[in-house]
Amino acid sequence: MTYRELFADACRQGIAPHEAQLLLEHLCGLSHTALLIHFDDLCAEEICAPFQQLVARRKTGYPLQYLLGEWEFFGLPFYVGEGVLIPRPDTEVLVEKAMELCDGLFAPQVCDLCSGTGCIPIAMSQHLPDSAQLTAVELSDQALVYLRKNAERHACSNLTIVQADVLQWQPQQSFDLITANPPYISADEMQTLAPEVLQEPRMALEAEENGLQFYRILSDRCRSYLKPDGWLLFEVGYQQGQAVRALMEQNGFDRVRIISDYGGNDRVVLGHLTK
Ligand SMILES: C[S@@+](CC[C@H](N)C(=O)[O-])C[C@H]1O[C@@H](n2cnc3c(N)ncnc32)[C@H](O)[C@@H]1O
Repeated sequence: MTYRELFADACRQGIAPHEAQLLLEHLCGLSHTALLIHFDDLCAEEICAPFQQLVARRKTGYPLQYLLGEWEFFGLPFYVGEGVLIPRPDTEVLVEKAMELCDGLFAPQVCDLCSGTGCIPIAMSQHLPDSAQLTAVELSDQALVYLRKNAERHACSNLTIVQADVLQWQPQQSFDLITANPPYISADEMQTLAPEVLQEPRMALEAEENGLQFYRILSDRCRSYLKPDGWLLFEVGYQQGQAVRALMEQNGFDRVRIISDYGGNDRVVLGHLTK
């Protein structure tokens, strides 16, 4: 079979064209342009059979990103796979805001809670001065494997990785800025998720108290390890902006703001701590 025939066959089976293309590029180790150049060449049997297996797996709803083994976030490739949340473009809004707030700080001390692949602190480390110090905190053994591999891939020598439960963690230092994209899906909402999303780890998705547990506990605990004039930034579910704003205000944060993502949904809540 030619690459074109393989591609067409996958599309006929219901695979979206851009996904079929990404899977072929991934298996053949070809760039998009190289694949197009070779589109009418015969494809080696060592490619045909594994490609058909990937297509069959994808048809079951297994995430494309796990099949590819990596996914892009903030313009950088991150290793992903079973046991870790796939970075979402919505989270880039959080990174952009965090970077803005670090502007003008000579050696910002930044902590990211619930780090997963490490996409937030690793993306920040590529843009902050070398004098910045970043800490990533994650509980899951499986997620930590990806976090460590991604930190190594992007040569993040100024990133410290901590395995801890953020609901109890008490660091020895304080930070200028804390970011967190915690689990925030309520038990009810979990019932409505697409099967594909349910392939991702439950502990990355679901939170008690109608999805608000991490926001309630962290907006209290983080006060003790934020520096004066520090900032706390949360990614939130699209219906959680007002509730998280109220929690931060109850805990003494000022200048609390809700920021929308590019789809116009509430996505980030941030607040400042004067102390
Ligand atoms: C929504 S995911 C976010 C992952 C990553 N920050 C991102 O934006 O793609 C939440 C992460 O929190 C981790 N997590 C869940 N409960 C935790 C806890 N109690 N302490 C530390 N990490 C936790 C999960 O393993 C998961 O990696």
